[in-house]
Amino acid sequence: MPMSEDFQTLDRLTQEALRSSFHNEDGEKRKAVSSTRGLAATLAPEVKQLWQLLNPKRPRKLPLYMNDAEGARAYLASFFLPNVFKTLSILELPENSAALQRVFQSKRKKHTLVDHGSGPLTASLALVLWMKRHLSGKTFEEGEELRVLAVEASNSILQTGIDLLQQFSLDLPFAVSVEKVGVRQLEPETVHLFFSVNALNEFGQMAKGILNSTVAKLVDRGAFVLFVEPGQDVHARKLGDFRNSLLSKSKKARIVGPCTHSHPCPLTSSAQRKDWCWFRMKWERTPLLKQIDRSTGLKHEELNYSYFSCMKQMKQVRGSQPTTATAPGWARVVSDAMPLPAAKRPQLKVYMHRNPSGLGAAPTDSKLRGELSKCLACSHEGKLCGVFNKGKALPTRGEKLEQPPQEAIICREKDQISQQPSRAKRPAVLPKIVSRAQKARRQRNSNGNLPQKKKRN
Ligand SMILES: C[S@@+](CC[C@H](N)C(=O)[O-])C[C@H]1O[C@@H](n2cnc3c(N)ncnc32)[C@H](O)[C@@H]1O
Repeated sequence: MPMSEDFQTLDRLTQEALRSSFHNEDGEKRKAVSSTRGLAATLAPEVKQLWQLLNPKRPRKLPLYMNDAEGARAYLASFFLPNVFKTLSILELPENSAALQRVFQSKRKKHTLVDHGSGPLTASLALVLWMKRHLSGKTFEEGEELRVLAVEASNSILQTGIDLLQQFSLDLPFAVSVEKVGVRQLEPETVHLFFSVNALNEFGQMAKGILNSTVAKLVDRGAFVLFVEPGQDVHARKLGDFRNSLLSKSKKARIVGPCTHSHPCPLTSSAQRKDWCWFRMKWERTPLLKQIDRSTGLKHEELNYSYFSCMKQMKQVRGSQPTTATAPGWARVVSDAMPLPAAKRPQLKVYMHRNPSGLGAAPTDSKLRGELSKCLACSHEGKLCGVFNKGKALPTRGEKLEQPPQEAIICREKDQISQQPSRAKRPAVLPKIVSRAQKARRQRNSNGNLPQKKKRN
C-alpha cells in the first residue's frame, strides 16, 4: 500500500527536524545530511546503538537516552513514524474506533488527552490523524480544542514533538495545545483520553504502581485508556500484569480490546506457558527508513506490539443491539496457525477427548485424518483454548471470532496459572472407572461372599 499523504507530510517534517538537529555540527556533516541517503548513512550508527540499548536484555535502569542529541535523533529516525503508524492502526480497530467515537460525541468543546511517556508526542499525533480521518463528518465549532497533557522526562524531545505537532495541525478545524504535567497532577474528572505508548517498560515499579491507581480513577470517571507495549514476551507479560491490577482497582472498567473479556489475563508473568499475547502488522517504510535498513541491516517493515484498551462500561440503550464493533465476541486469536506433525496424532487424540470445550466439532477419526493445524484463542471467559482444523482453514493472529467456528475442534488448554487452586476450588475427584470384573467382585462382596481371586494356571 503506498504511503498516505499525511505520512508523506510527517516524513518530510521529521526529515527537516533531523537535519536541523545537525545545525551545530561542522560544515561537512551538514552537507552530508542534505540527501536522504546521506542522512541515513550519518544516522545509521546512532540508530544501531539505540536498538542495542533498547533490546529485551537491556540494563535494569535505562539511561535517559532522549536527553542526548544522538539518542533523540536515533529515536526520531527509527521509532517515531513506525510508532505513529502502529498507534493509529490500533486506534482504527473497530472496537477502539467505536469507543473513541463515543468520547467525541460529547458536546464539550475541549477534549483532554494524557500522552504518557510521550517522547516526540507520538500517540498525540496518532490521535490527531485518527480525528482527521474519522471525525470528518463532525462540524467543529469555534474554540474546539484537543488539549494534550504530556508526561515526559525529556524537555528537548517534547519540544521536538510540539514543533512537529503544531506544523502538522496548522490546517485542522480544531486547535491543539500541549502542556507538560506529572502523573500526580492529573485531575481524573478533566481527562477524557489516556494513551501510554511504549512507555510502561521504561518506568520503575513504584511509578507503575502510582500510575495503575491513577488510571483506574480515570477509567471510572469515563476516560478511554490505551496501553501499547513492544511485542516481545517480557513486555507483553508485564502489560498483562498491569492490566489485571488495573481491573482489580477499578470499579467500572471493561476491556475494549484485544480481549473479548474483562477476566484476569491468562498470559501474564505468572503464566506457565511459552505463549504471550502479541500482534503484528506490516507497513510501507518511508524512503529514509529503507535507506537506514540498508545501512544497518535492521528491519522496519514489520511492527509488533501488545496492547489493551479499556473504558467504563456503557449503559446499553434499551432495545438496542450492540454493533459488531462493540459486541464482545467469542474469542481473540493470540497465535499463528501451527501445523501438527503426524507423529503426535495419537497423543493429540487422547488430549482432545480429555479436554473438549463443548463447542465446535467432535474429534472424530475422519476429522483427525490428514493435515491438521492449531491456533490458540483467548475466549470471552478469559480461558485459553486450542482451535484445531484442516490445513489453512484457521483464523489468523489477532482475528476476533464472533462465534466458535463450528467446523473446528475446540479444546480447553492446560492450566496456565502457576498458583495452586485453593482447597475450595479444587476440582472434584473424578469418578473411578470400574471394570466389569471389579463390579462383579463388589457385587459378590455385598452378598456376603468373600471375594475370590481368579486363579491362574
Ligand atoms: C520508548 S519512548 C516512547 C515515546 C513515544 N510514546 C513513542 O511511542 O514513540 C519512552 C518515553 O518515556 C519517557 N520516560 C521514561 N521514564 C520516564 C519518567 N519516569 N517520567 C517521564 N517520562 C519518562 C522517555 O523519556 C521516553 O521519551
